[in-house]
Amino acid sequence: MKKILLSAALLMTLISCNKEENSTTNDLTTNATRNCASNEVLENQLREHPELAIKMNEIESFTEKAIREGRLVNGKIQIPVVVNVLYKTTAENISQVQIQSQIDALNKDFNATNTDFNKVPSTFSGVKANVGISFVLDQVIRKSTTKTSWGTNDAMKKTTQGGLNPTSPTTKLNLWVCTIGGGILGYAQFPGGSSSTDGVVIDSKYFGTTGTATYPYNLGRTATHEVGHWMNLRHIWGDTTCGNDQVSDTPLHNTANYGVPAYPHYSTCTGTPIEMTMNYMDYTDDRGMYMFSNGQKSRMLAIFSTGGARNSFAQP
Ligand code: ARG
Ligand code: ZN
Ligand code: CA
Repeated sequence: MKKILLSAALLMTLISCNKEENSTTNDLTTNATRNCASNEVLENQLREHPELAIKMNEIESFTEKAIREGRLVNGKIQIPVVVNVLYKTTAENISQVQIQSQIDALNKDFNATNTDFNKVPSTFSGVKANVGISFVLDQVIRKSTTKTSWGTNDAMKKTTQGGLNPTSPTTKLNLWVCTIGGGILGYAQFPGGSSSTDGVVIDSKYFGTTGTATYPYNLGRTATHEVGHWMNLRHIWGDTTCGNDQVSDTPLHNTANYGVPAYPHYSTCTGTPIEMTMNYMDYTDDRGMYMFSNGQKSRMLAIFSTGGARNSFAQP
């Protein structure tokens, strides 16, 4: 019991955000409010369901073991995607073209065919990854609602609260596209959570690359970042000063980076490495992020391997 409590505490440290730090960065309004929604949602889930911490610790041990033993799937996973569009205004009822532009962006970013992949500095060319997971639009479900914003309490995932229940959440990735509010771009549920709320929420203004997609978040990378969380990736700075993202080939970062940092941006953490600010799991603008690392790829693939928390998605 002591051990369980201890690891639960460890998990809480791992995910806890440093709000003070983010509120002192430049772009105050955006940064302070859009900070760490996925982690806040996770913290709430952990408070309501303490046993989730145990489950997530098991997923962590499994992930490390699967990576150690090289027990990974072949990297030919195809994920069917259900897009749930919740709208009050006509602008929120985004077009099919905008939806497909997001699927296309995910496919490029996860298969190293994004046009900016060649901008990865040579320092990181040995670790930049072709994750090799693809996404196929399965269906679009649209619903007219009376809500002007949905917040981050998962209401959009519940028909009883005016939203839409997920469709086949153990075999399909559900995306909810709606107005979240509070400057939040999107949030994800990590592996291990309830299937009734599983998936990723993206604000319609930061979804896809056309239509209502809004600069500097108009390259579809909010979804890339959130799907990274959905596949068990942590923020690259480890959600605390010089924190651990459980990935060995990503350098230590002091904290989140915003905007488009000039290269090289040096960390003052142990070893003063050059930070991998162009990683999708940092907080830069969309045009500032264009790679996953091989270590992140291993973590993501491990989740889909036999016995993994999302193995149900890897079945043909
Ligand atoms: N706010 C999001 C989160 O908490 C991620 C931000 C995505 N960044 C971007 N450039 N689109 O996970
Ligand atoms: Zn995040
Ligand atoms: Ca790391």
